[in-house]
Amino acid sequence: GGERDLLGKRVLISAGGTREYLDAVRFIGNPSTGKMGLALAQAALHRGAIVTLVHAPIEESVPPGIRAIAVVNAEQMQQAMLENFPDADLTVMSAAVADVKPAAYSSEKLPKRSLPEQLLLAPVPDIVAELGRRKQLHQRLIGFAAQTGDIITPARQKLAQKKLDAIVANPIDKADVGFGSNFNAAIFLDFHGRQVEISQCSKLQLAHHLFDFVHGL
Ligand code: C5P
Repeated sequence: GGERDLLGKRVLISAGGTREYLDAVRFIGNPSTGKMGLALAQAALHRGAIVTLVHAPIEESVPPGIRAIAVVNAEQMQQAMLENFPDADLTVMSAAVADVKPAAYSSEKLPKRSLPEQLLLAPVPDIVAELGRRKQLHQRLIGFAAQTGDIITPARQKLAQKKLDAIVANPIDKADVGFGSNFNAAIFLDFHGRQVEISQCSKLQLAHHLFDFVHGL
């Protein structure tokens, strides 16, 4: 793809790991640092896009030129994504969304002795699946699938089930790629059946490879 192939396009990206709080301090979360989403936002900006980044708590600051919306949990992320989705030409859901939340929430910190022995869980909305249902003809939607073991089969299933145009199958059981790393490796899949393997590179390089891959989809 050309340097400025996203000129004037509206790109919506989610990043980071959502936190589902049980009380004022304790939460269910995951090791996502938001680096991949930030790299996607930077790459899109570089290619001329108008970029909105909806991010759960992340470890780095958002570079200037990117419109950032900070959220904490999956429900807040869903609300921000649904609000911004209708204007987006291209949406990349790179956030690691917690699949469940504690069924109850206490705004006070629970004393240790009153913590339940078993934690009741409730599902959180599948954000990208909802975006897939709302997607209009001109919109493109890309998801991620962080997996161990066979990464391709589950990624293909998610691509179809969530009505995505493409998916990034991301191995998280390899050395120095994935969560928290500055590097990543992936297999890109699209709904036409195209499949491209990207060997270890920086997250910024991977982001550019992804925009190259989806160019013309
Ligand atoms: O099904 P799984 O969670 O592995 O799918 C991963 C993809 O779905 C990612 O793009 C992730 O951002 C998205 N997702 C979501 N809402 C959830 C769980 C995952 O949008 N509750």
